[in-house]
Amino acid sequence: MAKVFVFDHPLIQHKLTYIRDKATGTKDFRELVDEVSTLMAFEITRDMSLEEVEIETPVSPMKSKVLSGKKMGIIPILRAGIGMVDGILKLIPAAKVGHIGLYRDPKTLKPVEYYVKLPSDVEERDFIVVDPMLATGGSAVEAINSLKKRGAKHIKFMCLVAAPEGVEVLKEAHPDVDIFIAALDEKLNDHGYIVPGLGDAGDRLFGTK
Ligand code: PRP
Ligand code: URA
Repeated sequence: MAKVFVFDHPLIQHKLTYIRDKATGTKDFRELVDEVSTLMAFEITRDMSLEEVEIETPVSPMKSKVLSGKKMGIIPILRAGIGMVDGILKLIPAAKVGHIGLYRDPKTLKPVEYYVKLPSDVEERDFIVVDPMLATGGSAVEAINSLKKRGAKHIKFMCLVAAPEGVEVLKEAHPDVDIFIAALDEKLNDHGYIVPGLGDAGDRLFGTK
């Protein structure tokens, strides 16, 4: 079964408070999402594999560890997922970035796919699918379906704010995908928005609406 991790690091919680606050403008919102994404990337990469190399310090030879070079991929769900990419790349700059474009039909709340562009060696990479919001779970499930259909085998999902409903839907659909969350909120409202949430992540990131 999928594991769910809620990051309660004080820095993440502090920054998330300002991300949620409706008084926070686009510039600060974008910078804070970037910073929280870096902090979350630090936690999510905890299980990266290492190998031993021999080096010489100015004082003596030693055996030390470096990343074993597993190929990584970051997949933002367009559009709001884009806001998390640079923050993650600060820690894993060699990762390739694919894009999956989905929007939620405002009436049905079902995701509609409009764009997919992935690295060519999908089968060899470990992927982190990113989106600030996990609401009904439809977008995350569909993005991961799309990725698996093209050969991806190792996938994690990372978001800022999740509703319990979305977590359950994602766990059920993709039991092999661990879920990393900065905050697990109370519920969804009648429009499929997370309560208390942070509003429309895409609009707040890009200053639209
Ligand atoms: C938002 C958000 C997620 C999705 C979450 O995107 O960024 O992708 O809704 O909702 P769900 O879990 O119910 O599917 P939206 O469809 O508003 O598109 P946008 O990123 O282009 O604004
Ligand atoms: N998408 C958002 O941007 N916010 C929500 O609360 C739910 C879906």
